[in-house]
Amino acid sequence: MKNIRNFSIIAHIDHGKSTLADRMIQTCKIVTDREFKNQMLDNMDIERERGITIKSQTICLPFQADDGNTYTLNLVDTPGHVDFSYEVSRALASCEGALLLIDASQGIEAQTLANLFLAMENDLEIIPVINKIDLPAAEPEKIAGQIEEDLGLAGETIQKCSAKTGQGVPELLNAIIRLLPPPQGDPDNPLEALIFDANYDPYRGTIISVRIMNGTVRTGDHILFMSNGAEYRIEELGIFRLRREPCQQLSAGEVGYLVAGVKTVSDTRPGDTITHKDRPCAAPLPGFREVQQVVFSSLYPIATDEYEDLANALEKLKLNDAALTFQKDSSAALGFGFRCGFLGLLHLEVVQERLEREFDISLILTVPSVKYKFYLQDQTMVEVDNPSFFPDPGSIARVEEPYIKATIHIPERYMGAVMTLCMERRGENTKYHYPMPGRIEFTCELPLAEVIYDFYDRLKSVTQGYGSFDYELTDYRPSDLIKLDILVNGEQVDALSQLTHRSKARERGLKACERLKEEIPRQLFKIAIQAAIGGTVIARETISALRKDVTAKCYGGDISRKRKLLEKQKEGKKRMKTVGNVEIPQRAFLAVLKSD
Ligand code: GTP
Repeated sequence: MKNIRNFSIIAHIDHGKSTLADRMIQTCKIVTDREFKNQMLDNMDIERERGITIKSQTICLPFQADDGNTYTLNLVDTPGHVDFSYEVSRALASCEGALLLIDASQGIEAQTLANLFLAMENDLEIIPVINKIDLPAAEPEKIAGQIEEDLGLAGETIQKCSAKTGQGVPELLNAIIRLLPPPQGDPDNPLEALIFDANYDPYRGTIISVRIMNGTVRTGDHILFMSNGAEYRIEELGIFRLRREPCQQLSAGEVGYLVAGVKTVSDTRPGDTITHKDRPCAAPLPGFREVQQVVFSSLYPIATDEYEDLANALEKLKLNDAALTFQKDSSAALGFGFRCGFLGLLHLEVVQERLEREFDISLILTVPSVKYKFYLQDQTMVEVDNPSFFPDPGSIARVEEPYIKATIHIPERYMGAVMTLCMERRGENTKYHYPMPGRIEFTCELPLAEVIYDFYDRLKSVTQGYGSFDYELTDYRPSDLIKLDILVNGEQVDALSQLTHRSKARERGLKACERLKEEIPRQLFKIAIQAAIGGTVIARETISALRKDVTAKCYGGDISRKRKLLEKQKEGKKRMKTVGNVEIPQRAFLAVLKSD
């Protein structure tokens, strides 16, 4: 055990985490350069395009240190976005140490701090690493000063490297061995294995990533999941190289995987403890929590005959995404679809993109919503995340909505703009301080509903990309919530209804009407578009009637041209939904969703 080091890399997006991991893999020579490239291509498209890690990959590296010994370094990867901070905390809980990676030209960012706090909560030893020292704009000395003064980390532990050129990487690996403690635990104790991740493999089923805290587990053992009492038999155990490498046993201190006939990743829960059925440990490991969906939206296929395809696609995605929930939903305007729950807006976008790209299904999404708590006159409470289930207004005593604490890092000059943005979003209790000269750390309490949408985009635009943002859910607070309906020629389009704070209703109603007006093609009659609360109309737009026959200009001309035009219209109609007597194109639904 004294030759093992388990660690994670924590970093702000783009500070070079994946590049550093790649360089470590190459330094430890577990693959040839050619194989190495192939492996990189296996990653999910969206991850590569967006440059963010969605599914983490852990890797076990053999390293010949300067002290002459060979060590096993387990690099436990963590997802890199605020939506996944619980997963990050479980991954960190399986390590003894963390590298705090900071871009030498950018310095400390909000997410760096958020992850640093998570690591500290898990009692990890921290090694600050200044990356990208090859950049002309690098200021390693200045950043080293910030690390010491603002983060209170010891100056002599700071490492400097370039993940791009490889400079300083062997020194960094030696520092990991010197500065991080080896794991503790007793291989003879009852088994305590922490689940920190799970992935789906079409041939093997669920591959569960575990850190063995105590005890030893062997192939064939009968195991028990402590959160739900499920029992399984271990079919295969192993460690992560670039591919999975089976072995006979895993003992205290080690990181690896197990396969035990678990059907879907939803049957495993990150943070859960696995123990032996016959000789269980006394208590589960601390820190377990059920995942919580915070953003909800309904997904409808544009072509109604794609409903089955959508159902199958969601089932498939769910195999590998325990955090996604869905149940049947239906809409008068859009037919059958699914109400889905997500960890956050990024998670929603990833699912939407995968459905469209990997499964080739065009979708309409309803306005994303958070989960509200309605306290009714009869003393009961209902949770509502779908405008269709808005209770009868007469029965509502009060409503509460979820709040977050946001941490925002910005250069000082954007202070005013960010303050205004937070105020616009009903921010409260705004506080700020200067963690270093010229930089402001801003904290603010905001309704989650105001940030799920486009807050991060707006923040980036008002700070010209220099603002960084992180949040945690805090509590539920009273809200003046209403249901905003959209009517087209007097008929309510249920899929366009949204739950919103009363102070935002008019602005949102106006915007929705304007956008629909732009996107709904003129038809042979006048179309009224209205936004209403209850029976009261608060915004209105009108689309005037179309007089000309579209084929008129082809009159007398080539018949095939005329047919082509009609065919084109028919093609377009497939992407239309009819409400009452009005045809609404898919674009119109999406336009209502768009911010700005
Ligand atoms: P997420 O996966 O989104 O968390 O990003 P990441 O932290 O893994 O960043 P990634 O490794 O993808 O690097 C971001 C960008 O910085 C890439 O364009 C890298 O090529 C570049 N980069 C990483 N390390 C270095 C470095 O040491 N020097 C220079 N010049 N560029 C680097």
